[in-house]
This record gives sequence, structure tokens and C-alpha cells, in this order.
Amino acid sequence: MFEEEFVVEPMRVEQLDQVRRIERACFPTPWPRNAYHREIEKNERARYLVVRTTSEPGPTPKRRQFPMSLFSMGRSDARDVVAYCGVWVMLDEAHITTIAVDPEYRRLGLGQLLIIQMARIALQARATRMTLEVRMSNEGAQRLYRKYGFSDGGVRPRYYSDDFEDALIMRSEELKSPSFAERMDAGEEELRRRVRWTTRL
Ligand SMILES: CC(C)(COP(=O)(O)OP(=O)(O)OC[C@H]1O[C@@H](n2cnc3c(N)ncnc32)[C@H](O)[C@@H]1OP(=O)(O)O)[C@@H](O)C(=O)NCCC(=O)NCCS
Repeated sequence: MFEEEFVVEPMRVEQLDQVRRIERACFPTPWPRNAYHREIEKNERARYLVVRTTSEPGPTPKRRQFPMSLFSMGRSDARDVVAYCGVWVMLDEAHITTIAVDPEYRRLGLGQLLIIQMARIALQARATRMTLEVRMSNEGAQRLYRKYGFSDGGVRPRYYSDDFEDALIMRSEELKSPSFAERMDAGEEELRRRVRWTTRL
């Protein structure tokens, strides 16, 4: 079991500097800052989430060693956000717009945690499926999505503007299907063995 504890909660404007730090470490072309502002404050179809560590700095090998003053919660210079994601719920489809985990917190299950929370949001909004685009070369992310029953739904040629890589469209199973519910339950059970987390959604 990983030592730190995590909470999943709605993304707040004060957290955007932290979100953008992770984004810069994960993607070649970060969104402009005002795009997140718009998404959080104006887009009624959008739900953005963060995973925050609630543990204080200590001698965990994977953790960055922050000065205490930089760690305090609620401050704009806090350094506690470790992952984030966004989903648009549009009629019956929930489209995952972004998902990223701080490189120092990968392979703990936080990506899965976010997929499960987005699926719960999608189900509450009565969406029937989730969709997303992923770079053809991004095998790690594709593996995560396949674990949750996403399958290939076509290609968007030259989709990414920085290098014109193709995007693979992926679609989840029917969210209300028994097999999707089983995947979610199994995923959540696996996660409970790996990390401590709660949600404030
Ligand atoms: C993709 C990403 C979000 C995964 O986050 P994560 O927290 O490391 O993922 P998890 O720990 O929940 O992994 C769940 C499963 O996905 C698969 N997986 C995730 N990353 C993988 C990788 N790099 N290589 C192979 N499989 C991977 C594994 O099956 C893993 O299960 P396991 O650890 O039990 O083997 C993270 O690597 C990331 O932020 N990448 C950069 C941004 C990005 O590419 N986002 C996706 C845009 S479409």
C-alpha cells in the first residue's frame, strides 16, 4: 500500500498553476490558461477533477521533498495536486477531454481512479458511453483505457497540431452494461488495495 493519502475533488481556479505544471510535464502543447478558466467557470457540460495528496512531506522515496510552506492546502503556491482530468457530458456521450498524472505519481492507480470517477459522473448524467482521443503512439494510456473496456472506434488523421500524429478514437462499453459495472467494481477493489483515497465530489 502506498503511504500517501489522496482525495479526488472538483478542480478549482486556485489550483490552475499546479494543474498547468503537471500539464507541461505531460503534454507537448499545453492548453492556454484561460481555456481552463473557461472550462471550470463557464462550460456547464464540463466537469474537471483533481487528485490531491493530503499527506505531509516525509521520507517516501517517490515523493518530491517540498518545503512545508509550499505544501499548505488552499494556498495558490501549494504543491499538492498530483493528477487531473476533465470530461464533457453531452447528451448521451461523455467525452474525456484530458487526463494526466504527475510523472512522480504514476503507476499507483491514480489514472484508474480518475477514469472510475469520470464514469460515475457520466452514469449520473445518464450518458451511455464514454469516448476519447489518444495518440497512436501512447500505448500506456491506451492500455489504461482498454483495462476499462474501451475499444478502438476509428482514427482522426493528423489530429494533433504539433506533429500531426493521428488520434485513435476509443469508446467505452455501454456504461449501464453488467460487464462495465463489473470492471468498475473490480478496478475499485484493486485500487483500495493499492492506495488510500476518498472523494469530495
Ligand atoms: C496515461 C496516464 C494518465 C496513466 O496514469 P497512471 O496513474 O500512471 O495509470 P495507472 O497507475 O492508473 O495505470 C493503470 C493501468 O494502465 C496501464 N498503464 C498505465 N501506464 C502505463 C504505461 N506507461 N505502460 C504500460 N501500461 C500502462 C497498466 O495496465 C496499469 O495497470 P498496472 O499498473 O496494474 O499495470 C499517465 O501515464 C499520464 O499522465 N501520461 C501522460 C499524459 C497522457 O498521456 N494522458 C493521456 C492522454 S489521452
